[in-house]
Amino acid sequence: MQLIPENEILGAKVIHADLSAPLSLQDRQQIINWLGEYSVLAFEQQELTPRQLRDFSSHFGELEVNVSKIAQDPELPEVMTLSNMVENGQPLGLADAGQDWHTDMSYSKMIAFSNILYGIKIPFRNGRSLGNTEFSSMRAAYDGLPSDIQQTLENKTITHDFNQFWEKMRREKGSSRPPLTKEQLQAKPPVAHPAVLIHPITQKKILYANPGYSVRINELSEKDSSELLAFLFEHQLQQKYRYAFEWREKNVLMWDNIGTIHNAVADYLPEEHRYIKRCQVAANLFFQ
Ligand SMILES: [Fe+2]
Repeated sequence: MQLIPENEILGAKVIHADLSAPLSLQDRQQIINWLGEYSVLAFEQQELTPRQLRDFSSHFGELEVNVSKIAQDPELPEVMTLSNMVENGQPLGLADAGQDWHTDMSYSKMIAFSNILYGIKIPFRNGRSLGNTEFSSMRAAYDGLPSDIQQTLENKTITHDFNQFWEKMRREKGSSRPPLTKEQLQAKPPVAHPAVLIHPITQKKILYANPGYSVRINELSEKDSSELLAFLFEHQLQQKYRYAFEWREKNVLMWDNIGTIHNAVADYLPEEHRYIKRCQVAANLFFQ
């Protein structure tokens, strides 16, 4: 495998990799180290079955079974389909996953380490791919915070709520997702995490907050919490911290969720078909 950085802050291509083959311990460690340093890796020209995607993903931690049943593969519940395609009146996958800035599974007690996506059908218009996945580096965002804000965030915790993003999609994006049921809500109670995490691979400080799920800085008054969260949400999305991945078919996109936030750009129409397989990997390699 060989790495080609795409950008100074985050993003790299990996060439000469075959993710369908058994993964050596050495290659696994190399990928983990690259994820720490570059946060977003694209493996080009991959030929993978859903099972092979799952097997590759499972080298990096426990795989999440998503709360949404719409997209679960009946045989492989750890593999999800993200798609706007419809067959015989039935959606083939979750059509509007991740269409705003967030971090996967920050609402979970065990947060996510990585997200691994395999692009099977990617829409193009006028020679450009649609549906970019955008990232922002939370290591760079933390480093760029004024030192008094860094001080304020020490020893603070932030509450993350799964339902906030779900409801925002319904309210602001016209999503056809139904409201979460009582059972789903009970399965996903809000959780608190430190506002500043030490990244388990790089040992560097990162800002662990995101506009999708972060609802409250617990040790501050409601007013101070709202003001500081609004500041952080604006700060963390500055262009200088960002990288946009342009999809190609047969690319595997793998990113570090601990050190980034991301956004699925919804710039394609219903007839511009997109079909992606996804595994979400929990951070149980690093955290208890
Ligand atoms: Fe996401």
